[in-house]
Amino acid sequence: MICWVADPEELRQVAQICQDLSEGLKNRAVFNWTASQLMEEAQFSKILIKKNFSKEIVSFLAYRELPDNLEIMALGTRHGSLRQGYQGLLLAELKNIAFLDRKDIFLEVHERNDEARQLYQKWGFEVIGRRLQYYTDQGAAVVIAFKSEKILN
Ligand SMILES: CC(C)(COP(=O)(O)OP(=O)(O)OC[C@H]1O[C@@H](n2cnc3c(N)ncnc32)[C@H](O)[C@@H]1OP(=O)(O)O)[C@@H](O)C(=O)NCCC(=O)NCCS
Repeated sequence: MICWVADPEELRQVAQICQDLSEGLKNRAVFNWTASQLMEEAQFSKILIKKNFSKEIVSFLAYRELPDNLEIMALGTRHGSLRQGYQGLLLAELKNIAFLDRKDIFLEVHERNDEARQLYQKWGFEVIGRRLQYYTDQGAAVVIAFKSEKILN
């Protein structure tokens, strides 16, 4: 089942996933979210989560509801649960939300974050722009969008 973060313990688990993912990367500029940054972001974002059969959170997706669109701020799947389709489920749920709200989805991703870029491509997101020297390692941000009208086609 997919739901939103509902209590402080769930938020703590998501923050821990963020911290672990960030610390596990060779290039932290690709995913630069600490636990405390995620906690702060939770004041502005809604956070979708997927739990496993043991009721542990394995995957999360944080997004902001802006007047004209939804913006994905951070997403991740914890080590040990990667490549099992969890993030795809969360993105599918977000696409449903976007469709019902008549909003498009936007996000920025590091140009060298191949896993995430392939994930977005698989789920029908399209590159619409680039922001040069956007990240701390001077890497560019690729701006990506999903137009909710595509759900009808
Ligand atoms: C990117 C990320 C969220 C994918 O999560 P996931 O739950 O493993 O994703 P899924 O199992 O739903 O994968 C779906 C698709 O993503 C792409 N993908 C995921 N991991 C990949 C990898 N290691 N190599 C290539 N493509 C990958 C593929 O297209 C995959 O489809 P496939 O398995 O049919 O080939 C995960 O690797 C992660 O947490 N990365 C670190 C955090 C991050 O970079 N977040 C994005 C920026 S905010």
